Amino acid sequence: MTHLVVIDGVIQTPEHAVISVYDRGFLYGDSVFETVRTYSGKLYALDQHLQRLERSAQSIGVTLPVPWEQIGVEAKRAIVEADNDESYVRIMVTRGSGPLGLDTELATSPLRVILVEPLRSPPEAHYLEGIGAICVQTVRASDAVHSAKLGNYLASALALRDAKKAGAEEALVVNRNGLVIEGTTSNVFMIKGEALVTPPLHIGILEGVTRGVVMDLAEREGLRLVEEALSVADLKGCAEVFITSSIREILAVVRVDGEAIGEGKPGLVTRRLLEAFRAHVRR
Ligand SMILES: Cc1ncc(COP(=O)(O)O)c(C=O)c1O
Repeated sequence: MTHLVVIDGVIQTPEHAVISVYDRGFLYGDSVFETVRTYSGKLYALDQHLQRLERSAQSIGVTLPVPWEQIGVEAKRAIVEADNDESYVRIMVTRGSGPLGLDTELATSPLRVILVEPLRSPPEAHYLEGIGAICVQTVRASDAVHSAKLGNYLASALALRDAKKAGAEEALVVNRNGLVIEGTTSNVFMIKGEALVTPPLHIGILEGVTRGVVMDLAEREGLRLVEEALSVADLKGCAEVFITSSIREILAVVRVDGEAIGEGKPGLVTRRLLEAFRAHVRR
């Protein structure tokens, strides 16, 4: 069970890993990141994640310090070195460090850090029984920079804190128009009538890698896909709700704000898609 850190390409143990307190990722959340996991020891959809990292960086005016392919090589080297059964990998790029001050030109050398840890998947009970979620109206840093995976997750961390207090495992983010757009670290899907519904990208959500895979699988399964955001009341009236992310894959949401969704257990479509997803990642 190994934890490793890679700073600017150099592998270190967490105890010896040091970055500046003047790093703007620390000072201002001035950073972007990706979360990737392995299946059978191989990083899943690594190129897609790294290309999204580059797009996120570009959207805040940061140029990756090395090509994304090089960051991929460093991540792969680190998971081989860590030799965990399965690894969780967090890849971060900050604007770097410089004198105090918001001016982005104060930092000119972006920093790259990769954290490798043993993968911790959600408990099996979450897949068998589903999870609870609450709806939280909030505004996130990423609302100002659409589709970027920014380092600042404070609004989402606070929403998740409220979820935990309410005995739930995820918070569904509600935008200023009262529409449910995604989870704190997940995309959201609903079964409404005959259709599989998921909010469109232009509403201000992250283009999840898992979301894309699920949309492809749904098409192959013959499901009708509609990209639309629903109100909280409409979501609660859906037959099934599930969230998707690289770490949680596909998880049924069976309670929202304490109210049962459908029959209050993972529905048929969710289970079918999870099975198809797992077969896909195994391939
Ligand atoms: C806000 C947000 N939406 C969606 C996702 C899911 O993205 P992916 O499927 O690429 O892991 C994440 C993942 O962390 C996220 O932070």
